[in-house]
Amino acid sequence: MIETHAHLDFPQFDDDREAAIKRAADAGIHTIINIGTDWDSCDRVIELAEAHPRLFAAVGIHPHDAKIWEGDRSSERLKTLAEHPKVVAIGEIGLDYYRNNSPRDKQRVAFVEQIAVAKDMNLPIVIHNRDAFNDIFEVLLMERAYDVGGVLHCFSEGVAEAEKSIDLGFHLSVNGILTYKKATMAEVGKSVRLDRLLLETDCPFLAPHPHRGKRNEPAYVAFVGDKLAELRGTPVDEIADVTDENANRLFRLPPLQ
Ligand code: NI
Repeated sequence: MIETHAHLDFPQFDDDREAAIKRAADAGIHTIINIGTDWDSCDRVIELAEAHPRLFAAVGIHPHDAKIWEGDRSSERLKTLAEHPKVVAIGEIGLDYYRNNSPRDKQRVAFVEQIAVAKDMNLPIVIHNRDAFNDIFEVLLMERAYDVGGVLHCFSEGVAEAEKSIDLGFHLSVNGILTYKKATMAEVGKSVRLDRLLLETDCPFLAPHPHRGKRNEPAYVAFVGDKLAELRGTPVDEIADVTDENANRLFRLPPLQ
């Protein structure tokens, strides 16, 4: 199984980062993609990918940090990072209208300009959405982000939004929220095309049941896979095979040795 969205560079893993990577491998999670959120974080996820053959990186400026985005200068800096052979996506980028840690117009500019970098580099995008689906959809459409594709990570909208996103050429990734008692997510998990779904944890956040409320880690993506299997009435091996294939295709990951 592939963990497509981790933040192992965050300080929550300072005491046991290597042990967490090992626990994931022991649990059958053979590949992990760490997602950058600001410049320092991008450097750290690349360092982690350099140190471990099956760790990969995405680089980008999170909407919370959009206030640090400085136009062309930042685009050039991001391109340089994205040239690294273990960088497989631009992200996480997007819009967050819940916390509004950066002004909305700044968020939008950073999002649009990072999509342009992704298109220049021919890399898929990892999208963060919080209470901003309609604006995100509009940007994806206007900027023709479907040329590179990508994933709406931590998907927590309804079935209609899921289908709209898939029709535009995007993937969705589900995490611990799927294991919480939230009916709309169960509907999405049940009904969405399996060939567009990815699995993730978004660790250290959003630990799946039965670890809810504690620190999350990549090994727990197995609980998300189990829940998806249960919702769909599909064997978990098949869920793992298909979601792995999806991740391999989207992020063009090198084959396992
Ligand atoms: Ni994240």
